[in-house]
Amino acid sequence: MPTSREPSRSPAIAAESTYTPPRLDDRTIAITGCTSGTGRVTAMTCGTSGARILMLNRPSTRADDALAELRDAGVDATAVPCDLQSFDSVREAAELLAQYCPSGLDVLCNNAGVMGLPDAATVDGCDVQMQTNHLSHFLLTSLAWPLLVAAAEERGEARVVNQTSGARHGKPLDAAYLGANGGNLGGDGFPGFGKWRRYQQSKLANLMFTYALHDRIPSTGPAAKVMSLCAHPGPTDSGLQAKTTAAGGTQLIDRLILWRTLRVAHPVEVGAEGILRASCDDDARSGEFYGPPGRGQPGPAELLPAERNPDSERLLWETSLATTGISDFFRA
Ligand SMILES: NC(=O)c1ccc[n+]([C@@H]2O[C@H](COP(=O)([O-])OP(=O)(O)OC[C@H]3O[C@@H](n4cnc5c(N)ncnc54)[C@H](OP(=O)(O)O)[C@@H]3O)[C@@H](O)[C@H]2O)c1
Repeated sequence: MPTSREPSRSPAIAAESTYTPPRLDDRTIAITGCTSGTGRVTAMTCGTSGARILMLNRPSTRADDALAELRDAGVDATAVPCDLQSFDSVREAAELLAQYCPSGLDVLCNNAGVMGLPDAATVDGCDVQMQTNHLSHFLLTSLAWPLLVAAAEERGEARVVNQTSGARHGKPLDAAYLGANGGNLGGDGFPGFGKWRRYQQSKLANLMFTYALHDRIPSTGPAAKVMSLCAHPGPTDSGLQAKTTAAGGTQLIDRLILWRTLRVAHPVEVGAEGILRASCDDDARSGEFYGPPGRGQPGPAELLPAERNPDSERLLWETSLATTGISDFFRA
């Protein structure tokens, strides 16, 4: 039985992605948030193309169902418990990754996300959206770095792929959102913009992290063969929107934003194309940014223009290090 803290079950995915990756035999791919949505499609698509899949989910019946679905399809899939609302849980997950990846980790897909949650602090004191969407992925990537370098040395390349959103547009990155200021970041009162500003900041952080990492990857040795890429799914009918409503997102602004998204949303199989191409395409390069074309129009994923902002990237890097307690990202 699901507990009251657990989201309801998601339906089995109807299909794999419309995108066919190259064969991924001998590759190990770790994906956060693959109980549903783009993460689940990515896990199924990469798994049925030969990759070993490590499923980083917080424990739930949804996680159990997703694992069973991949195994039923013949995928070599392993569950790695990981609650992105807790840095301790992320550290435990990273220890398991090290055990499960003796010859390295080829791709780390930082896909999981929450949207439009109330102004609340995690156990670590951070904003629940920023910690789930960015800070825990920053910490996880740092802890998994030696595994990515090992894969790059063994098989010629490895990748970190972050998942951002069109909602990243708006105000420049503000350090307050990246610090331990959960519960004090705009509140939830009328007119209700606070939760959307916090989501915007977390999704902007995903893109700034991609570029900041790309710029800092060592230029020599096997680490130079680790790539940092980004994707966004476009408006996607994944169930993410229903979770916002279930978390109390019922103000007029919430209903308007969710209605506008779902009106043009495409299926998850299409929304997953960007993250799949960034994770799998043979000709993908570090610093690239993939997404679907148009506003919700299905079609081949396209390479998006870079949105570089050195000040935001520096602020992102330094504040994320301080908040996650890392002194050296590449030697955490
Ligand atoms: N759908 C859209 O229109 C849209 C648009 C732009 C960007 N995105 C981004 O795309 C990504 C995937 O979203 P989606 O649309 O596929 O939504 P989704 O179906 O709700 O998937 C989100 C995933 O994140 C997981 N997750 C949430 N909180 C977590 C936590 N504390 N620890 C571990 N995992 C957690 C969820 O697991 P649980 O089952 O445990 O909740 C779920 O597996 C997100 O980064 C989102 O911001 C989505």
